[in-house]
Amino acid sequence: MKVKLKRRRYPGKLIVFEGTDGAGKTTMIAMAKDYLVSIYGAENVIVTKQPTDMSRKTKLFQKMMYCKNNRDVDYRAMQLLTLSDRMQHGFEEIETALRAGKTVVCDRYIYTSVANMSARGYKNEKWFFQAAKHILKPDLVFLAYVPPELAISRIKARPAEATRHLDERLLKRVAEEFKKLAHSNGFIVLDTAQAPNTAYEWVEKVLNDKIIKEKRV
Ligand SMILES: Nc1ncnc2c1ncn2[C@@H]1O[C@H](COP(=O)(O)OP(=O)(O)OP(=O)(O)O)[C@@H](O)[C@H]1O
Ligand SMILES: [Mg+2]
Repeated sequence: MKVKLKRRRYPGKLIVFEGTDGAGKTTMIAMAKDYLVSIYGAENVIVTKQPTDMSRKTKLFQKMMYCKNNRDVDYRAMQLLTLSDRMQHGFEEIETALRAGKTVVCDRYIYTSVANMSARGYKNEKWFFQAAKHILKPDLVFLAYVPPELAISRIKARPAEATRHLDERLLKRVAEEFKKLAHSNGFIVLDTAQAPNTAYEWVEKVLNDKIIKEKRV
């Protein structure tokens, strides 16, 4: 499914990294940030993350994350909450930085909402896509992709997450939805099952081709 977002040209560029939990987004972002800083300077590169604490810290979000019984949460209420958060974050932080010519790297974006919604069986949410048209289309989207089994083993290996309830079947469906979105929305798919340095080589090549060359001229 092609997600229709707002098209607007700013002096700065928006680069998004998507992927399931444990796929390697944060690892790729840290490496991409160092490279972008070496070119544009630290003051011109912003690394940010969605959803922000504005939604993460709510009772509703916490319930979704930490309750085993998902029936306690109306998933559309969750979607409205994170959509509101993404919209305000886009307006207040991302677009402000882009207007000032900065390069913005965002860890997760609206495609996370789409993948999760589809994976839960919500397939015909016109209201969601109508609202999403007010969210800025990124200049470049990377999908960090690993087989779900590997993502799960990486998550379980993190000391902080060893006790978190992890819905493995859902993670597998989300991974599938991300792959479909990648295909229909032109994401650059990264094989993050490879060692970080190897996976990152492709990131740098794409940044050179699509972001840096274009911005230099
Ligand atoms: N390419 C890689 N090869 C091997 N291990 C990796 C690779 N990328 C990440 N890892 C390891 O996998 C784990 C998950 O990586 P990372 O934190 O980057 O994932 P993430 O996509 O940001 O996950 P989350 O959405 O949960 O924040 C980390 O422990 C990291 O060290
Ligand atoms: Mg991360």
